[in-house]
Amino acid sequence: MSALVDLVTSLSTARRAAQLYPPVHPSYREAMDTMVATVASCTADGTGFVLNIHEGRLYAGSQVISSDAPAVASLAKSMESHRVESLAFDPAFAAPDALALAEVLNLRASASLSIEEELAARGVTAIAVGVLADDDHAQRAEREERREQDRALYRQLVAALRVVQRDVAATGSPNLDQAEQMVGGIMSRLLEDDAAILGMASLNAHSEGALFHSINVMIYALTLGLGLGLSEDGLTCLGIAALLHDVGKSAFDLDDPEQAQAAEALHPKLGAEVLARLEDEDPATMLVAFEHHMGMDGSGWPDRAPDYITHPYSRMVAIANRYENLTKRGDTGSALTPDRGIQQLIREAGRTLDPTLTRLFIKSLGVFPVGCVVRLSDQSVGVVCATTAELLAPRARLLFDEHGTELEDPVDIDLTEDPRTILEVVDPEALDLLVADHL
Ligand SMILES: [Fe+2]
Ligand SMILES: [Fe+2]
Repeated sequence: MSALVDLVTSLSTARRAAQLYPPVHPSYREAMDTMVATVASCTADGTGFVLNIHEGRLYAGSQVISSDAPAVASLAKSMESHRVESLAFDPAFAAPDALALAEVLNLRASASLSIEEELAARGVTAIAVGVLADDDHAQRAEREERREQDRALYRQLVAALRVVQRDVAATGSPNLDQAEQMVGGIMSRLLEDDAAILGMASLNAHSEGALFHSINVMIYALTLGLGLGLSEDGLTCLGIAALLHDVGKSAFDLDDPEQAQAAEALHPKLGAEVLARLEDEDPATMLVAFEHHMGMDGSGWPDRAPDYITHPYSRMVAIANRYENLTKRGDTGSALTPDRGIQQLIREAGRTLDPTLTRLFIKSLGVFPVGCVVRLSDQSVGVVCATTAELLAPRARLLFDEHGTELEDPVDIDLTEDPRTILEVVDPEALDLLVADHL
């Protein structure tokens, strides 16, 4: 086992040397020689051996190489990012092979780069490369399938909410059973894969903007609720309240400018009245409808006493509602990009918005929220697909390479580990990109 760790460590040293020194430098020669010597000791019985990777762990044959040596984790990561499943070393392994391997593993991983071809181009015959390509393909197919299922869930929720709106307009007393069931579905998917659900919150439809708005506000409110550590019951209540926050608008024809104006002023009170009639509903649902336009500084509406205190869920929905309105692409196309939306929330925190909850919302979404299209320092472009512990370094799915060519197979990178940084946020419309299609 220690010979294997030595080999992996020597490969890591050789890679570093290849980055730091010219080939004539003594440190460089020494690193390559050490690597040749360790491969020689591992292949001393004349049979060669295989380094392979499975679920992020490095194996020699079927034996896991368990070591705290950073070189082991680093090689595993490098093999994964280059879609290399295995490296088989032949006893004929010599210094030029060591040099080529160190060089090739240092190349930046991309969908168009093949380690196998790069080694062959350098005349290497003593290393055979096994490729992970099929796994990638299966993963992508699975992701596509999940995306379709999530979209179907979203469409079902739009349909359920449409029925609620019709009920309100017709009888003033909606049946919420179906919508509540759907909220449960979205919530469990949010727990499984928040990026996929947050990605859908960038969906918009001009014809049914109000329905999409309500669902997106619910997704953002639930994300905040999760960040706050609310119980499942609490999340369900918050989700329903967020979904129905604008239910008071249902009685109005929002295409008529006069009615739309009246709806804006009256919907908190009307919505609260509708929801107060429902016996089984948590009173918080009614309060959120009534209070979601009330600013913390006494601004907003409806009018209230100076010492009036709003429900915490109302403050959460107010933040989600504000963010959705800021980033939603309206008919004029004048939406803020997600990062600008976040910056605007920071400005409003402590004035109209609850500062603690706004901070938590930003922590949950990240400074570059999921769905943000970003240009990286090498000019490649990707979409943020997950947040990480570092606010400024999320995970990104690369869609265009550094020359602006669209990648056939998008590559996911973790910016906490990748040397590239985010240069700027790009308007997806400028690239003719529908963000939700790539999450
Ligand atoms: Fe509203
Ligand atoms: Fe709203």
